[in-house]
Amino acid sequence: MPKPPSYPSKVFLNGEILNAADAKISVFDRGFIFGDGIYEVMARIGGQFFYREAHLSRLRTCLDKIDISCNVDTLESEIPRLLELSGLETADCLLYIQVTRGVAPRQHSYPRDIQPTVMMYAWAKTLPDINETPASVVVQKDYRWSRCDIKMTSLLGNVMANEFAMAHDCYETLFERDGILTEASHSNVFFVKNRIVYTHPANCYILDGITRQVVLELCEKLGIEVRLEGLPVQDIPNMDEAFLTGTSTQILAIRKIDDHVISGGRVGPITRKLQEAFLDLKNTGA
Ligand SMILES: Cc1ncc(COP(=O)(O)O)c(C=O)c1O
Repeated sequence: MPKPPSYPSKVFLNGEILNAADAKISVFDRGFIFGDGIYEVMARIGGQFFYREAHLSRLRTCLDKIDISCNVDTLESEIPRLLELSGLETADCLLYIQVTRGVAPRQHSYPRDIQPTVMMYAWAKTLPDINETPASVVVQKDYRWSRCDIKMTSLLGNVMANEFAMAHDCYETLFERDGILTEASHSNVFFVKNRIVYTHPANCYILDGITRQVVLELCEKLGIEVRLEGLPVQDIPNMDEAFLTGTSTQILAIRKIDDHVISGGRVGPITRKLQEAFLDLKNTGA
């Protein structure tokens, strides 16, 4: 069982770095009332944030998509001080960033002149070099909305789906929309058949994961053929391999989808090759 998460010691909130217990926001914050905000998570490995620019660029894009104006460069410049005060100058860690629209009297439409609420914190986390133990997953209908490309804080659909996975002793829930597998509650999903890698195209039905993008780059580098196609659910039993990707999930082989055992329950050769190439990338600093 993974260790339950603990609270960070320090929180960056609207320009100040505070003890976590002193970091307070208004009950009228639209992030609290509507889930009207964007978030990002980055992993620091060996002293550098892995694919930092890609994460910050997705943060900018998602803020633009929901019309929140926030200077991500200013926010980025505060990260070293936050890490230092959190006692994480040299530690491997995860950084959580959240920007909500800010505080306003409750109504759906928003005023244009409010300051966004900006919050960040980091906590020590060492990710395994390679995830050795394949995971079991379940499939559920995708009951979320049709803008899954936005990394928004309103994650109730994802929370419910992940809870469904936990209730079935599984790591993840794969979402199915109109018979096609899209992504999972907090990761993207890939399949392998006859040495060809399949994953859903980056459209409004999935979050275009940074790890997903890294894996696609690695496939190209390794000469592995890729097809950007969502897999029909009925094809699950025919798959040679399947794996999940995500910032903290990294590349995780799938051993079972519902009742179908994949790759004999072991990490398949293409998944392994990608895991090793991913590890090289982490070791050389990306
Ligand atoms: C729904 C969803 N899909 C995919 C991902 C993977 O994205 P990334 O690789 O950028 O962590 C996440 C990560 O939080 C997610 O929430």
